[in-house]
Amino acid sequence: MKDKKLIFSGIQPTGTFTLGNYIGAVRNWGPLQDEYDCIYCVVDMHAITVRQEPAKLRQNTLNSYALLMACGIDVEKSILFIQSHVKTHAELNWILCCNTQFGELSRMTQFKDKSQRHPDDVNAGLFTYPSLMAADILAYNADLVPVGVDQKQHLELARNIAQRFNQRYGEFFTVPEPYIAEVGAKVMSLQDPTKKMSKSDENPNAVILILDDKDTIIRKCRRAVTDSESEIVYREGKDGINNLMTIYASVTGKNFADIESEFSGKGYGDFKLAVGEAVADHLEPVRTEFARLIKDKAYLKQCYTAGAEKALRYSQRTLSKVYHKIGFVDRV
Ligand code: TYM
Repeated sequence: MKDKKLIFSGIQPTGTFTLGNYIGAVRNWGPLQDEYDCIYCVVDMHAITVRQEPAKLRQNTLNSYALLMACGIDVEKSILFIQSHVKTHAELNWILCCNTQFGELSRMTQFKDKSQRHPDDVNAGLFTYPSLMAADILAYNADLVPVGVDQKQHLELARNIAQRFNQRYGEFFTVPEPYIAEVGAKVMSLQDPTKKMSKSDENPNAVILILDDKDTIIRKCRRAVTDSESEIVYREGKDGINNLMTIYASVTGKNFADIESEFSGKGYGDFKLAVGEAVADHLEPVRTEFARLIKDKAYLKQCYTAGAEKALRYSQRTLSKVYHKIGFVDRV
């Protein structure tokens, strides 16, 4: 590896991803495999920063692994693994925590949001979450990190941590760049299009899950909050329509001008139905492939075991060099 640029990204094991996860991140991961060396990871260690039910976490992690494969991650081309299987992430996290400032972590908007949502469990892991994310990325010296807009601040912190380490101990870490899609980097809630679409939304109509069946997807699109006008155009102030246009553009490959002429003279009802149908049809192969893969537990195990071995071998080399650089005695 390393003659091509290296990509790293991760996703939390929520079981079934939202359309936001899919459009903003995961759907871009597959096509990158031909041009780059890619490493992708289901981040179960990040997931436990909020309380999880153990049996559900285990099931969701397996589902997420299979779902990434169903979304086009090819284990022959990329390294695909489960974060907790590769101990170097936790080990590097400790080193990076000691090179991250309390003030920096306090400024993270996701920490502020999540601590407000879970006031009874503002744990230290939730606080140091971005340092573990930096460890994920820096353990492989990734060049590019494909994420949605909501992860930009965390990535900025990972860059700062890498730069600070390099200043203290000599040039070592690659300073990673965010890789953010032009369309769909922030898919909004269908019920409040000023908020991002998020699995934790209490209103199920706000979120399309990529394993939702066709009727459910159409129903959610039909109920999407729009405005009191009637024109299908992408314009400031039309948050609901802008969001539906973004979704439609992402799954059909059409641009906004094409969409505006396609629906000129038509009503919101027609447009919402077309969006729902296009999304459902686009996701149909993902659902079919997921249903096939999730039945084959032995194959999944073979894939994630092999993925973890490769990831461990790779990241262990980085970690050993880091240990040496900071002054730990070489073990061998
Ligand atoms: P997570 O699991 O919340 O989301 C996974 C990916 O989906 C993107 N995303 C969205 N994109 C557009 N619109 C939305 N509404 C939307 N919601 C989510 C996220 O930006 C992300 O790219 N901390 C990370 C996981 C992580 C990671 C990493 C990512 C751990 N280590 C190292 C990159 C590199 C997270 O919780 O993503």
